[in-house]
Amino acid sequence: MSQLQPSDTVAIIGAGTMGAGIAQVAANAGHQVYLFDINPDAVEQGINFLKNGLAKQVKRGKMTDEEVEAIIGRILPCSDLSDLKDSKLIIEAIVEKLEIKQSLFSDLEEICDDETIFATNTSSISITSIASKLKKPERLVGMHFFNPAPILKLVEIVSGLASDKSVLEKIYNTAQNWGKTPVYVKSTPGFIVNRVARPFYAEALRVLDEGAADVITIDSTLKELGGFRMGSFELMDLIGHDVNYAVTESVFNAFYHDGRFKPSLSQLELVNAGFLGRKSGRGFYNYNNIKDQASIKNEPSFPAPKKITVYGDLGVAEKLIDRAMELKLDIIRRPSELNRSIVIDGVNLYMTNGCAATEKAANSNLREVVLFDLALDYSKTKRIILTKAEQTSLSSLKVIIGFFQSLGIDVTIIKDIPGMIVSRTVSMIINEAADTVYYGVATMDDIDLAMCKGVNYPIGPFSWADKIGVKNIYVILQNLLNSYGEDRYRPSPLLRQKFYANTPFNAN
Ligand code: NAI
Repeated sequence: MSQLQPSDTVAIIGAGTMGAGIAQVAANAGHQVYLFDINPDAVEQGINFLKNGLAKQVKRGKMTDEEVEAIIGRILPCSDLSDLKDSKLIIEAIVEKLEIKQSLFSDLEEICDDETIFATNTSSISITSIASKLKKPERLVGMHFFNPAPILKLVEIVSGLASDKSVLEKIYNTAQNWGKTPVYVKSTPGFIVNRVARPFYAEALRVLDEGAADVITIDSTLKELGGFRMGSFELMDLIGHDVNYAVTESVFNAFYHDGRFKPSLSQLELVNAGFLGRKSGRGFYNYNNIKDQASIKNEPSFPAPKKITVYGDLGVAEKLIDRAMELKLDIIRRPSELNRSIVIDGVNLYMTNGCAATEKAANSNLREVVLFDLALDYSKTKRIILTKAEQTSLSSLKVIIGFFQSLGIDVTIIKDIPGMIVSRTVSMIINEAADTVYYGVATMDDIDLAMCKGVNYPIGPFSWADKIGVKNIYVILQNLLNSYGEDRYRPSPLLRQKFYANTPFNAN
């Protein structure tokens, strides 16, 4: 198996946030690492940054002083590019500008021999374009680490049109040897993670812009119901709105203004205001008085129902009925192929299928209709999000609130919008993942792995789709498409194919 040996020298160019972190990863794997930066102070600062981080590891008992000394001792500051000539692998992590990266690699080609592999840590520039000015473009690949590089496992191994397969394999194996989780991806805008994750931000911004729920409700819902580690707004505040908006805009432009990636005007306003998130003290949240932040609103208590009638198989939401059974609620079951619902005191409760509740009620010729949002695990969820049709009475809503409360679940109400919060977000993430596979950019397994390791999703998009049912995802997207009439919500041809074939994705 072809891979770099610990005796091979590695060079990192750019000693900023990413370069310094990557230098630590390579040095930790036993390589001698040259660290070069156009600004010599940056190399010193980068190494000091690593020393501080490693000292914390020693304090926590995760490393010894000797181990830290050995790692730092293997990182050699360089002030002349020609010092890098014997490196077997050179990883570039400099400013995100195509011409500057191209010119750097052309200079390196003059210095290094033909066998040196070039890798770029670019997060948004085409690998094909970066390699295009080289005499041997086949030697250049993308090696996209995530921040912080020493901690996050994922590395996207990105192939440009000219990249040599054996070079890609060698870098893949090397990343694996460095304790990372590599995935292969073709050089397309956003690679895997920055593309498939776009709806996580875009749908939250859309729900906010439509006034259906506030920031804290959307974030809490995504965490408590969706199982995401952070809410969309918290995460955007952490990344910085300048950076997050720029990535969205670059992916949007790169896909020729596909509505799926449309940036949000309210995020642009934050950027214009200089409210960049945590780093500026204010973004969607105000970090100067974070303790005074409002929290998600719980509905007051309402009585538990005496009896519930369940029509058909509720799929993933069957777990709610298991919970009701454990509490010895009186449950009547009725077979039904089409009408999968819970009826309590004449009120019809459905899991959202991408239609607004008002439309669902009209289409079903019903007046009393309440919808609940998708949860990652209905057997454990402590919160549910509900919405009612415009024509549904408040007393009907209270009946449903009482039902969920009787299961020990807190209830929050949002305005009636198609697909609610988790359901539309997860469906759009799955759709993006499906399109990424459909166009041959990456495999299902690699995408599932990338989203779990790169951005900590609770489950990969394809495994999630199989759990919820590919049919249900397709229906949610079709209904979103009909509701908004926007091409943004069109189902991927791959999802459509799976829907008509009635087969799951069967991702590992
Ligand atoms: P940074 O601004 O922290 O560091 C960049 C360093 O490169 C600076 O020290 C600068 O002096 C140096 N530099 C600039 N031009 C140079 C040149 N011509 N030759 C040598 N050194 C030069 O930037 P950061 O955040 O580390 O990003 C570096 C690269 O990694 C970019 O391509 C970025 O898109 C990518 N990236 C960034 C991530 C992040 O979260 N910050 C995540 C993944 C990729």
